[in-house]
Amino acid sequence: MISIQFAEATVPTEGSLALLVLEGAAPAGIWAAADAACGGALVRAAQAAEFTGKKDQTCVVLAPGAGLVRVVLIGLGKPDDHTPRGMEAAGGRAAAALARDTTAALAADGMPASHAAHAALGARLRSYRFDRYRTKEAADAKPRLASLTVLTDDPEAARAAWPGLDGIAQGTALTRDLVSEPANVLNPAEMAERCRPLAELGVEVEVLGPAELETLGFGALLAISQGSANEPRVVSMRWQGGAPGGQPVCFVGKGVTFDTGGISLKPGAGMGDMKWDMAGAGAVVGLMAALARRKARANVVGLIGLSENMPSGNATRPGDVVRSLSGQTIEILNTDAEGRLLLADVLWYAHDRFNPSLTVNLATLTGAIIVSLGHEFAGLFSNDETLAARLLAAGQSTGEALWRMPLADAYDKLIKSDIADMKNIGGRPGGAIIGAQFIKRFARGPWAHLDIAGMVWSSKDAPTVPKGATAFGLRLLDRLVADHYETAAPDA
Ligand code: BES
Ligand code: MN
Ligand code: ZN
Repeated sequence: MISIQFAEATVPTEGSLALLVLEGAAPAGIWAAADAACGGALVRAAQAAEFTGKKDQTCVVLAPGAGLVRVVLIGLGKPDDHTPRGMEAAGGRAAAALARDTTAALAADGMPASHAAHAALGARLRSYRFDRYRTKEAADAKPRLASLTVLTDDPEAARAAWPGLDGIAQGTALTRDLVSEPANVLNPAEMAERCRPLAELGVEVEVLGPAELETLGFGALLAISQGSANEPRVVSMRWQGGAPGGQPVCFVGKGVTFDTGGISLKPGAGMGDMKWDMAGAGAVVGLMAALARRKARANVVGLIGLSENMPSGNATRPGDVVRSLSGQTIEILNTDAEGRLLLADVLWYAHDRFNPSLTVNLATLTGAIIVSLGHEFAGLFSNDETLAARLLAAGQSTGEALWRMPLADAYDKLIKSDIADMKNIGGRPGGAIIGAQFIKRFARGPWAHLDIAGMVWSSKDAPTVPKGATAFGLRLLDRLVADHYETAAPDA
C-alpha cells in the first residue's frame, strides 16, 4: 500500500509530479511555478497535446527540466466535476500514470484541503494490487509507486481529514484481498479466521461452527455445505461506537466461498468466477474494518454466512426438503440457487440475535440481475421506502450506483412448492426478483437486498478501481451509516 504524506505547496526539485488541472483554467499555483521552473515546457507540451483539462484527459511530459522525471497533467473537467468523487478519480488516474516512479508528488493546491485528502484516497484505491501469487514477475515490471506526497495549501487540515479516508482505503484493500483469494485458500474456516483480527480494532468477533449451527437450526445454510469437505461458518462482527445499548443497524453478506452449483452443476466455462461468490460477505468484513478504523459513532453489526457449494455423495439433491432456522420449510429444486438459502437463515438469525433497526444484505445472488442491469448498477430491493431512498442517495454520492427493482406478492405463486412451504426456484423470467421475493420471507423490519452479482468483479481498470475485485458496497454502506445512523455528539 502506498504511503501518503501531505506537505506545503512548493514545486518539487526531483522525482515526478502530477498536476490536477481544471478545464480551460490558466496555469496558477504549482502548475504555473512548475512550468516556469521548466522554462515553459509544460504549457508547450499541453498545447501540443491539445490538453485543455477536460475530465479524463491525461498528458504525460517526460524530463521537462528542473530535475523532474515526469510531469503528468490530469484533467479535472468543469468546476461541477470538482467534487470529492472527481478528486478521487483524478488521484487514481495520477497514481496509474505515476506507477513507474518510486516517489512522486501530486499538486492539489488552490482547492480545499478535503479535496487533497480525497485525491490521496483515489491514489491509494487505484494502486491496490493482489500480488501474493506472482513469483516470477521481474522487479522492473512491477508498479513501483511507494510514496506519494500530496501538496496542499493547508497540510494540517488535509492530515486531519485523512484518517477516516485511510480507514476506507484499508477496508477496501481487505475486501479486495478476500475476494481475490482463490477458493482453495479462502474456504469458510479461513475466511472466518481473517475476520478475527478485527478484534484489534475494537470489533467483537464471534464465530459459529457447524456444531453450533446444527444446534441452533440453520438447516437451510447447512444444506449448502453438506457436500463439501469444508465446514461452514457464520461470523458476527459487532462495532459499538454509538449510544450504549442503542439498536444497531445490521449488514448481512452472502459468503459462498465457491459455488459449483452443487448437484445442479454449473457449466464449466467461467466457473472459476465463482470464487467471488463471497463478495457480499467480503464487503461486509471490509466495511466493519473501515467503520472501526474511522471510529464511526454508530452501532453496527456485520453478519456473514460462509459456505462452499460442492457436489458429492453427501450433497443436497434436487428435491430435498430442509427446515430453515425460521421454521419455514424449503424444497430445494435447484442446488445452484444456494445464496437465498444462506440468507434465509442468516437474516432470521440477525433479527433474533441483534434486534437491528434495519438490515441490508449484500449478495451475488443471481445471474439474472446482470441480464437486467449489466455492470453499471446493482439491484436494490426493499420493503421500506425511507431505507430505499437513503440507499439510492448513498449510491449516487459514492458512485456505487443502485437501481430500484420491484418486490410484489404477484411473484409468490412462482415459488409455491407441492410439498413444502416454498421452493427455491421459480423459472427464468424475473429471476432476480424471484430471488429477492424469496429472501423477503426471512427478513423482519426495514430491510433491503442488494443483488451485486454484476458489480463485484471488473474486467477493466477504472479510475479508482483496478481490474479485479472492486469491493462494491463498502463505500455505499459506509456513506449510509455516516449520513443517517451516526450520533451527532462526538466521543467523550
Ligand atoms: N452465485 C450465483 C449467481 C451468479 C451467477 C453470480 C453468475 C455472478 C455471476 C448464484 O448462486 C446462482 O447460481 N444463481 C442462479 C439462480 C438460479 C438457479 C435460480 C442463477 O443465477 O443462475
Ligand atoms: Mn449458485
Ligand atoms: Zn452463488
